[in-house]
Amino acid sequence: MNRFDKLASQWDLNPNRVESAIKTTHKIKALLDIKDKDILDYGSGTGLISFNLFEDAHSILAMDNSKGMLDEMQRKIQEADITNIKTKLHDGNIDAFPKERFDLIITAMTLHHIKNPPLFIKNITKALKVSGYLAISDLELEDGSFHGGDDDGVEHFGFDKQVINRWFKEAGLEIVYLETNETIVKHKNFKVFLAIGKLL
Ligand SMILES: C[S@@+](CC[C@H](N)C(=O)[O-])C[C@H]1O[C@@H](n2cnc3c(N)ncnc32)[C@H](O)[C@@H]1O
Repeated sequence: MNRFDKLASQWDLNPNRVESAIKTTHKIKALLDIKDKDILDYGSGTGLISFNLFEDAHSILAMDNSKGMLDEMQRKIQEADITNIKTKLHDGNIDAFPKERFDLIITAMTLHHIKNPPLFIKNITKALKVSGYLAISDLELEDGSFHGGDDDGVEHFGFDKQVINRWFKEAGLEIVYLETNETIVKHKNFKVFLAIGKLL
């Protein structure tokens, strides 16, 4: 059982997480047309991002390496009788990416758990349809205190936006948005960026 398996049943009870997913999806919807699109929610957790999108989207595939998080998401999908969200266990550090192609890939607060982010960005970009979009939100550089010492599986203490910009370009993506999109208030303030790139 990993850290997220243990946290799964309590995940949605933290208002910071719910609020963060709302801010991310709100901005994405303001910038991109998601109507009838095929979306990959990578590192979906319990589906806080997916549940803000499924009513407009054609389909959502939610991938995560925590069975506990996906079980919780499945429970919510069945409870709400949602037919256009599917889940799939997948480890972005190990597994090959799926052959399906998506109009939009979103990965929210997950990149800091990925061992090799530039390689991950390159690989996941290959799952985009032509002119598809990759949207990544995550912490900006922080002092390592965001997770409060519970660093199991934390590979990076946030990211420099200029480095994200470079990784997107190296993956063949044109930046259409790269800004601080929110601030998470804990014992101090933590900035969260949103980067959106379009496959050229
Ligand atoms: C901070 S949570 C974010 C969940 C969700 N995106 C949200 O905004 O509520 C990070 C998620 O990434 C998943 N994760 C961590 N490492 C992963 C990996 N190597 N491959 C796939 N998913 C991973 C975790 O299981 C967890 O569900």
